[in-house]
Amino acid sequence: MDDGWGVRRLCGDDWERHRAVRLAMLLDQPGAYGSTFAREVAFDETTWRERLDHPVLLAESDAGLPLGAATLYRPDESHDPEIVAMWVAGHARGHGIADALVQACVDLAGARGDAVVRLHVMRDNPRAVAFYERVGFAFDGSAGDIAGCDRMSRVLPA
Ligand SMILES: CC(C)(COP(=O)(O)OP(=O)(O)OC[C@H]1O[C@@H](n2cnc3c(N)ncnc32)[C@H](O)[C@@H]1OP(=O)(O)O)[C@@H](O)C(=O)NCCC(=O)NCCS
Repeated sequence: MDDGWGVRRLCGDDWERHRAVRLAMLLDQPGAYGSTFAREVAFDETTWRERLDHPVLLAESDAGLPLGAATLYRPDESHDPEIVAMWVAGHARGHGIADALVQACVDLAGARGDAVVRLHVMRDNPRAVAFYERVGFAFDGSAGDIAGCDRMSRVLPA
């Protein structure tokens, strides 16, 4: 990590960059996301643009190389926000990028007045679990839809 880097929110016109990063994470960690490369590689431009209605945060180097991403997803207004599609490129792990992505999501939720941010993680993904615990998430007793996948929550200050 010789270069500087930052985090920005993608807009609709970034859909090709979003697609590239999403497909990269599905190839890199196929068991982590409850979806597959085969399914999403078939999505059209409209679908990728619609996905960007939810905040997608991208970490990228000053030279424009994507380093990681996270999405703050909310199925509808009555739901708590959830961090999904969290990924840092292998060569960029352990450099604070995941921290910055989570913080950007938490900041968005806090600015909106949310009381809690949630996420789901596979129990057999020890690096992700250790990371989420370090940044303030804890298992809350709720199970996900997939076996071995459980929910974690981080309560935001009032
Ligand atoms: C999960 C992810 C985003 C975290 O980003 P990261 O840069 O790797 O995170 P960090 O290195 O800051 O933190 C990982 C922590 O796990 C620890 N760790 C690494 N391997 C571990 C293991 N096998 N068991 C337990 N802890 C482990 C590290 O020591 C570190 O803890 P520390 O900061 O207290 O030293 C990243 O690893 C990733 O993209 N993984 C693949 C995709 C994925 O699993 N996404 C999550 C889907 S829910």
